[in-house]
Amino acid sequence: KMRIIETISEMRKVQKEWRENGESIGLVPTMGYLHEGHLSLIAEAKKRCSKVVMSLFVNPLQFGPTEDFERYPRDMERDSQLANESGVDIIFAPSVAEMYPHKMKTTVVVSEITDTLCGASRPGHFDGVATVVSKLFHIVQPDFAFFGQKDAQQVAVIKQMVDDLNMPLEIIPCPIVREPDGLAKSSRNVYLSEEARKQAVVLSRSLKQAEADYQQGLQPGEIKERAMSLIKTQPLADIDYVELLTYPSLKPLEKFNGQPFILALAVRFGDTRLIDNKIFS
Ligand code: PAJ
Repeated sequence: KMRIIETISEMRKVQKEWRENGESIGLVPTMGYLHEGHLSLIAEAKKRCSKVVMSLFVNPLQFGPTEDFERYPRDMERDSQLANESGVDIIFAPSVAEMYPHKMKTTVVVSEITDTLCGASRPGHFDGVATVVSKLFHIVQPDFAFFGQKDAQQVAVIKQMVDDLNMPLEIIPCPIVREPDGLAKSSRNVYLSEEARKQAVVLSRSLKQAEADYQQGLQPGEIKERAMSLIKTQPLADIDYVELLTYPSLKPLEKFNGQPFILALAVRFGDTRLIDNKIFS
């Protein structure tokens, strides 16, 4: 039977019991408003671990002052039903006061790979992510933690943190889950107007075009330009960035040299910012 735990002390008690019983623990960090992307991470965690914790915490530390922290969609009742049906053992859903009882004086900062993409457009965002994920790792002490490639830079940042700080767990990246027309699932898709929702398929279409372009032997600059042009055909689309970089090191790439790379997009539709990417390896 699934339980919802709201305090750190209770979460620690349960994880200690599990440890003593030799269970393997999987953690799926989320901010809730679950969709099939989140559920795919839970399914992967169920495959690998005997116990699965899903954290549900809208983390104020990773939102900028003008971002959507207050209006971020929340539906605890629906989320707990979906998590229960998916076989989650515990939802760890602390309050903001439980996680941040006083102003934080310690934060986790991952440098260099956060200088670009969403790190450049959202200053401080990844410090907030790395800090809360580090706290969650210390509270839940999982053997495995599951993250979606939808947020490819987030995966790179968390892997770097785990590696640099010798955190004793393994990060499992999971593939992007999409709507039938190709739009990557996101809790923020609910903000889109009907017209913007239609135009938003241009993100995944531009990634598909890039894949074909790459097969045709086009160079990084050309592939990027063509992705941008396609996105600009949609009148509501306002490009934040279109970047072609090495992955996971996220360095500029002038010429293909056999190393894995990413085409990453962030596009605004009104005040809704959507991201998508494809990793070529
Ligand atoms: P959130 O946006 O709720 O996403 C939780 C996890 O679901 C992330 O690992 C994200 O990459 C994954 N995810 C979202 N959409 C997906 C999709 N379409 N396909 C596959 N996976 C998808 O990311 C966060 O929350 C926060 O930054 C968090 C890590 C919880 C820290 O606060």
